[in-house]
Amino acid sequence: MSKEPLIIANWKCNPASKKEAEHLFGVLKKELRRIKKTEVVICPPFIFSSLFPARCSLKLGGQNCFWENRGAFTGEVSPLMLKNLGCEFVIIGHSERKKYFQESDLIINKKLKAVLKNRLQPILCVGEEARDAFTAEGKPLNEMSLVVGEQVEKGLSGISSSRLGEIVIAYEPVWAIGTGMPCLPNDAMKAALLIRKTLTNLYSRNIAEKVRIIYGGSVNSQNASDYTKGAAMNGLLIGGASLNASEFVKIVKDVEEIL
Ligand code: PGA
Repeated sequence: MSKEPLIIANWKCNPASKKEAEHLFGVLKKELRRIKKTEVVICPPFIFSSLFPARCSLKLGGQNCFWENRGAFTGEVSPLMLKNLGCEFVIIGHSERKKYFQESDLIINKKLKAVLKNRLQPILCVGEEARDAFTAEGKPLNEMSLVVGEQVEKGLSGISSSRLGEIVIAYEPVWAIGTGMPCLPNDAMKAALLIRKTLTNLYSRNIAEKVRIIYGGSVNSQNASDYTKGAAMNGLLIGGASLNASEFVKIVKDVEEIL
């Protein structure tokens, strides 16, 4: 599996109309048509996925999916449906899925397995809730190191080493998502090292090196290259800024330029 930088646009529950979605996608497609070295993935709401051509310089991803491929599961969208639409990636375990839909580690693991079974690439989201957690005695508790390793371990439970290269791990500290308070690049790098160490312990160093680790949380055109260049992350997961075409285009072009 390639280690080219990966930039994921997570549109979340936006925009409100087909017309706006087509317009945004159209601008991105045109502006990013010459991008060669960076893999750019657009994750629109499901109902807009079929509007976009599978074959252009932009790839398509899902923001979530169910763990079964078909059946009596009202309201769900299956990984097989996404695959058949031309999707190549699926975001799994985003913190908003955990917060609003009570997704547990077990559910996340089931979804991740279903995604791999359908030959899609899962983007497993991990990240601590609070920026500065304290113990009862008032000592700072490094929540990141406690939580992130465990989320990686539980998310990947039962996944064989031969599939690891297909998996992307997004380090997304919950406190940095949509808050305008991004994680310091140096801290993102520490989290990436911890994730790689966890993968090395679970599998091997060789296998751990195959996984792309990306950063998400209040990324914009001003700070994007601090992560991809400064902190050596393999890419970015972008929410708010991905809805602004000129902002997103600038981010992708900046990342492409420094390669
Ligand atoms: P944000 O969202 O870029 O708006 O902080 C990131 C995410 O939720 O993945």
